Amino acid sequence: MSQSLDRDLVLTVNGIAYPVSVDHGRNLLSVLRTEVGLTGTKEGCDDCECGACMVLLDGQPVNSCSYLAAQAVGREITTVEGMVRDGELHPIQRNLLEEGGVQCGFCTPGMIMSATALLARTPDPTDEDIRIGLSGNLCRCTGYAKIIAAVRRTAADLRGE
Ligand code: FES
Ligand code: FES
Repeated sequence: MSQSLDRDLVLTVNGIAYPVSVDHGRNLLSVLRTEVGLTGTKEGCDDCECGACMVLLDGQPVNSCSYLAAQAVGREITTVEGMVRDGELHPIQRNLLEEGGVQCGFCTPGMIMSATALLARTPDPTDEDIRIGLSGNLCRCTGYAKIIAAVRRTAADLRGE
């Protein structure tokens, strides 16, 4: 006799509670994309190497491909969709576009989440701080310089300069 391993969970994503019923072994990335329906978070390596799947859990960046959905219960999950407020792009999103830090865009959601966590803990980062803060996010298109420029500009914007 087969036995269902599904569990009823409630995930709080971008301030909204989503009840889901998922196998206890499902990772957060697949649940966000297929059960919650938020596909901004990308699947790259599926092995904790590329950062395309980065989300924030209580403000901390986490590779959602390597994190169980069940572990995220009771925590505030933020995805790239949660960065837009009242229809306006967040400064990091706007600056990535204006600085040319988006080419194919596959790495962009993860970059945005890592940059957001970096700027929350380091409001006035050096370029080295930015490189370290984004070191878990791979980009095969841009060469990183434009992404770093966008984060630097966002830091200044958020400081009101
Ligand atoms: S898809 Fe998660 S780190 Fe690459
Ligand atoms: S813009 Fe293509 S991987 Fe970064």
